[in-house]
Amino acid sequence: MLQAHLHPDWEAASRRHEDIDRSVEWLSRLIPPGSSILDLGCGPGLYTERLATLGYDVTGLDISRRSIAYAQEHDRQSQYLYKNYLELDYTEAFDMITLIYCDYGALTQSERHALLGKVHRALKPGGLFIMDVFTHQTIRSKQDSTSWSAQPDGGFWHTEPHICLEAAYYYEDHTVEARQTVAVTANELHQYLIWNTVYTRETLAAEVLPWGFQVDSVYDDSCGSPYTGEADTLCFVLRK
Ligand SMILES: C[S@@+](CC[C@H](N)C(=O)[O-])C[C@H]1O[C@@H](n2cnc3c(N)ncnc32)[C@H](O)[C@@H]1O
Repeated sequence: MLQAHLHPDWEAASRRHEDIDRSVEWLSRLIPPGSSILDLGCGPGLYTERLATLGYDVTGLDISRRSIAYAQEHDRQSQYLYKNYLELDYTEAFDMITLIYCDYGALTQSERHALLGKVHRALKPGGLFIMDVFTHQTIRSKQDSTSWSAQPDGGFWHTEPHICLEAAYYYEDHTVEARQTVAVTANELHQYLIWNTVYTRETLAAEVLPWGFQVDSVYDDSCGSPYTGEADTLCFVLRK
């Protein structure tokens, strides 16, 4: 996973690094240097390090011990916390909070509600929450399916040679996707289940507004591309 984050051209765990550069440039136009930023699910610090270099007071938080260790080693300017963002416990502490690369839709409904409440509390009055999600565009033409592949040299799901069994299922009027992967090595079996809820501008707004946010602006992605409603992602700038 760390290798996937760090590869400049892979989109498996983080966006391509040239997109991260564009994203950071856009984020830096939303608040002035010196402002405090909390990056939820910061991974190995690809955004945080760039933001710290631009003069922001940055905190990155991730549940991956390995990613946090890498970030701490490579970026001495930001503060990094090995922590579950569902246990966030700040009050009016940050000017901006980011949750980037569509992590929001991977949460259950109760987790999403809990997170929205905690993010709202953690923001200073007027603070911004930047979050992106996948849209219907990404799964519209997909059907329930199963497949398998041989990975003789290892791959994304396991470094050792393995057989990869994959399945995808669609629920809730084709708005929720479950992708199941089983990696079978010579000695072990590893199973992964990834949920993804997709949104429209309207369904995302309906979900976030009750938590006290205002929708400040809407974009096609977390690089600030103008909203068309036709992109694979949707990015909200929410204001407390
Ligand atoms: C798709 S990656 C995106 C990483 C980073 N935002 C980026 O775009 O480079 C999701 C990240 O969220 C982290 N994560 C997932 N669930 C988490 C949780 N409950 N608390 C903290 N971090 C979490 C993962 O460890 C991973 O680093």
